[in-house]
Amino acid sequence: MKIINFPVVHDDRGKLIALEELREIPFQIRRVYYIYDIPAESSRGGHAHIDLEQIMIAISGSFTVIVNNGILPEQSIELNTPRKGLYLPRLTWRSFKNFSSGSVCLVLASELYNEKDYINDKKEFFDQVLRRSSTV
Ligand code: TYD
Repeated sequence: MKIINFPVVHDDRGKLIALEELREIPFQIRRVYYIYDIPAESSRGGHAHIDLEQIMIAISGSFTVIVNNGILPEQSIELNTPRKGLYLPRLTWRSFKNFSSGSVCLVLASELYNEKDYINDKKEFFDQVLRRSSTV
């Protein structure tokens, strides 16, 4: 997990951020999705991915991401600016909460949607992390 600060092109007409794969984004972008109209009490995520890498961006508003890589203590990160992206590597358990009114979460993903790439059980997630770390 890391925060990536995006370069902003700023002039008196406003601000612009351009994201290119393998430049600002550390992988090839194969999918883009966004989450919006999110009820304030909504909690999303609650899973990890086996092979997927993602960048989460608070395009508008703010929300909290709780991340766990199965090794370090869980971290809570508030995303509240379109200038920053949260990079989530493979095998990162994540959940999202505290969505502000009107918030929009943009996600850039390294793979097409694949239901089989999800780990929805936290124990299974910790088992997979252990298995990977014992084979490297
Ligand atoms: P999910 O990944 O569980 O969302 P979140 O992590 O934000 O809670 O996906 C919610 C639903 O949307 C699920 O039925 C699968 C579908 N979906 C797609 O069809 N394509 C996609 O690219 C994504 C991310 C989800």
